[in-house]
Amino acid sequence: MSLSLSAEQPDQPADADEGVWLECIECGETFAPFDDVRYTCDDCDGLLEVRYADLPTFDDFEGEGVWRYADALPFEAGVSIQEGATPLYEVPRLEDEIGIEALRIKHEGMNPTGSFKDRGMTVGVKVAKELGVGRLACASTGNTSAALAAYGSRGGMQTLVLLPAGKVAAGKIAQASLHGARILEVDGNFDACLDIVQELAGQGEAYLLNSLNPFRLEGQKTIGLEILEGFLADYDAVPDRIVLPVGNAGNTSALYKAFRELVQAGALDEDDVPKLTGVQAEGAAPMVEAIENGADEVRRWDDVETRATAIRIGNPVNAPKALPGIRETGGTAVAVSDEEITEAQRDIAAEGIGVEPASAASVAGLRKLRAEGIVDDDERVACLTTGHLLKDPDAAAAAGSEPEPVPADTDGVLDHLQE
Ligand code: F0G
Repeated sequence: MSLSLSAEQPDQPADADEGVWLECIECGETFAPFDDVRYTCDDCDGLLEVRYADLPTFDDFEGEGVWRYADALPFEAGVSIQEGATPLYEVPRLEDEIGIEALRIKHEGMNPTGSFKDRGMTVGVKVAKELGVGRLACASTGNTSAALAAYGSRGGMQTLVLLPAGKVAAGKIAQASLHGARILEVDGNFDACLDIVQELAGQGEAYLLNSLNPFRLEGQKTIGLEILEGFLADYDAVPDRIVLPVGNAGNTSALYKAFRELVQAGALDEDDVPKLTGVQAEGAAPMVEAIENGADEVRRWDDVETRATAIRIGNPVNAPKALPGIRETGGTAVAVSDEEITEAQRDIAAEGIGVEPASAASVAGLRKLRAEGIVDDDERVACLTTGHLLKDPDAAAAAGSEPEPVPADTDGVLDHLQE
């Protein structure tokens, strides 16, 4: 089995529940969606995807935010804090400087907890309630833990988060803490945290809400649906390309799934599907390596390092879903340096938009691909900025201007300004 844009709509299996079921992307085995706790295939351990008997077209969407797209989700409503409906900013100076037909910034930092993770959690925490589990857990580079803590407490559940010690930005730990998560600081990187949390989940200690959980990705599909609707409204056409930062490759997988479902529903032409273009930091770029080598599998990087701590990940668990997404849409993947990331963060900030370092990787990657001629000047592109500037105040302060000490009188201030 492989994921493809031209796949036929599958027949509904007997274990479907109101037209929803889970299917293994490797062996095709199907499972009932909410009877048991399950993250991967019982038979072959492959990744699971949510399938629907009926797929919506654009006409079926109504309302605002993630739940506007209820017809593309397993429920009518979730545990919600009004997530989604994020801005699709124009950035005319950046567009000119990079030299493309149109550039828009989809700023996911404008979600309730300041990152796109909220879109996945509104669905994932609802599933947890459906399953009747008591404790939720995740490994995280920070944003997932903030979203899990907020949505878990909103849903009245306990939350446990495992973080790589010393490698999570201050704003994210503050959020997890205030929303009442139990925070375990692990002496290891994100991938080690995820190994542990998967084992804890396997032993029934907690319900796992990392992007390995197929229901989280359902919520994250709505990023793609909003971008498409925004472009259709403004340009009467979907974007040629969507550029996004890649860590575990959850968003890449989710956007690809959103497009496949629209194609299957007859709402999007296969030739019009935006080119999914992933960006990683040079110090944590296993997906880029796999794309460049034409490899079917991603090699786990044991030593990863980047200032963009949100994407400091060496073992992207969703690679089997994301690699076909990049390839089938005609996209690519590119690595950028920490310096290029910081420069892009400043340039986005100069347009009045504040993003955290990992988010700026999308613009840094676009700039590089345009300079290399891989992105054409006639393209209309959406760059995804995944998290808010205030998530990582230390990185923002380091990238910005230094405060200047002055005396507490007007003459002293004037003297200083004239210096
Ligand atoms: N950007 C930000 C700001 C993130 O927090 C993450 C992932 C990504 C991009 C990568 O997205 O995994 O879908 O490819 N953060 C996770 C976390 C790992 O724990 O918060 P992906």
